[in-house]
Amino acid sequence: MHLEHLNVLACPACHGTLECDQSVADPPGGVLTEGNLSCAACGQQYPVVAGVPRFVPRENYASGFGLEWTKHARTQYDSYSGIPASEERFFRQTGWPRDMRGELILEVGSGSGRFTEQAAKAGATVVSLDYSYAVDANYASNGARKNVLIVQADVFAMPFRPQSFDRLFCFGMLQHTPSPARAFAALPIVLKPGGALCADIYRASLLRTVLLTKYWVRPFTRRMNPDRLYALVQRWVDFMWPVANLIRRLPKGHGINWRLLVADYSPLGLKGQILKEWSYLDTFDMLAPRYDRPATRRTFQRWGEQANLRDVDAHHAPHGVVMRARMPP
Ligand SMILES: C[S@@+](CC[C@H](N)C(=O)[O-])C[C@H]1O[C@@H](n2cnc3c(N)ncnc32)[C@H](O)[C@@H]1O
Ligand SMILES: [Zn+2]
Repeated sequence: MHLEHLNVLACPACHGTLECDQSVADPPGGVLTEGNLSCAACGQQYPVVAGVPRFVPRENYASGFGLEWTKHARTQYDSYSGIPASEERFFRQTGWPRDMRGELILEVGSGSGRFTEQAAKAGATVVSLDYSYAVDANYASNGARKNVLIVQADVFAMPFRPQSFDRLFCFGMLQHTPSPARAFAALPIVLKPGGALCADIYRASLLRTVLLTKYWVRPFTRRMNPDRLYALVQRWVDFMWPVANLIRRLPKGHGINWRLLVADYSPLGLKGQILKEWSYLDTFDMLAPRYDRPATRRTFQRWGEQANLRDVDAHHAPHGVVMRARMPP
């Protein structure tokens, strides 16, 4: 972490000021790789490991995501896939400007950091939080950027003071927490008055719950050891691949592949080995998460209104339900 970002952090237990060990108070280049942060108010200590402040244990219920984003640290980066999928989704979903210099943005549930890169390239200072050791993958890609701070922490106990950020985005995370409603309610607290929020959640409907094969299979797979499940997913995708290649030629064939538990991103224009990598990644992502708790558009809209947000707009989008809203001025 670049030490100049230390003042953004606060003790998650008491919001006290965090201080860096005297022994590493002046690390080379201002970058702290290993050390300890301690709370000036309550004395609680938090280690910095491999450049990332850690406010939670390395292993936890999200460790499957740690494995997923370690194996696929670059798979969904635009510079790797050759399609601008992350850039387009980031700016389309948020509606934010391409130049956000001078702003402080929080990303919650960052995974490999493909959206961290987009926000950082827009010139903002980006604080990127994830519960799993996926933060290591993000650090490898974005940690050297001077305008990025990556932390391993829990949305339910974030290491920031209230009203700290100009903007906040949270993509692909809420449904993977034990309580999406409570996780959502934690977000606006750290936004400044007038700050902008953009979050999404899988879309719930009775039909989808019945039709999506993953909801039938997950009760078994979500309990499996992530390494074993990943190996099984790879074997399944390899085995099904010739069939999937034929099926995707049919009208809406890619939808049939998803129901056969072969994630199919061919409509994005991906081909060959990269298409298969995305398939390993998202087939695992369908089956591994401990929690998968979608919400309807109406429920999501209600959460925004109950949080006293302004201009709450929850709408259907390709990745589920997206909400844009603002903190009251
Ligand atoms: C499907 S990934 C999405 C990653 C990234 N936003 C993307 O769309 O590529 C969901 C992420 O949410 C994180 N997550 C789950 N529970 C969390 C929690 N309680 N606090 C913070 N992050 C959490 C997981 O570790 C995982 O990396
Ligand atoms: Zn404290």
